[in-house]
Amino acid sequence: MSDNLKRAAAERAAELVSDGMRLGLGTGSTAKHFVAAIGERVRGGLQVVGIPTSEATREQAQREGIPLTTLDETPELDLTVDGADEIDDDLRLIKGGGGALLREKIVAASSRRMIVVADSSKRVAKLGKFPLPIEVVPFGLTAIEHAISKLLESLGAQGELHLRRAADGAPYVTDGGHFILDAHLGRIEKPNVLASTLNNVPGVVEHGLFIGLATGAIIATGEGLVELGQI
Ligand code: A5P
Repeated sequence: MSDNLKRAAAERAAELVSDGMRLGLGTGSTAKHFVAAIGERVRGGLQVVGIPTSEATREQAQREGIPLTTLDETPELDLTVDGADEIDDDLRLIKGGGGALLREKIVAASSRRMIVVADSSKRVAKLGKFPLPIEVVPFGLTAIEHAISKLLESLGAQGELHLRRAADGAPYVTDGGHFILDAHLGRIEKPNVLASTLNNVPGVVEHGLFIGLATGAIIATGEGLVELGQI
């Protein structure tokens, strides 16, 4: 059921794509339906280039036959379509449940439009129930963790930080070679303040709060698609 909803939102987003577009290709179980839909259209003659937001998406896009480029060759994109772990009414997002937040944010920020595709379980009144991923360098991990905890405390946003681990128990390593601390905050009262201050902690590479990046969203519900923002 949820997978059908994800596919419905992704297929609607694929309708927004036309010849000549430079596309950001998101990561995750919803974005993968978008990549599949674009692959099908490319095999039918659609001419686009894509930038994958993760190695997993790169592999899928290559299998689908989607021509790929890089942000060095193509620094400005027309449209990025990506999933989200949470989305609020102001189109603020938590992303990074799949660990691809750094490339996802760089690609979204290089794109004129970012459309989020999700099923209705992702829509929230307040962000924060989903643990906020914070990508950090491995050097000085414990010191970085302490600095983040202090910052969270000063913002009244207490919660435990858990080092994300892979299936074998070793720290999960991102495509960029970093670790992820998942901040279990419960609710984030001031997402904009938290977003801007987290980036000031030395050792923090990026975090999963996406603010001012999404221009629209396609949310699939049991009763049909709901569109937010500009589609
Ligand atoms: C990947 O790092 C994430 O930002 C995903 O976009 C997000 O976790 C949504 O994934 P699903 O579509 O699989 O829920």
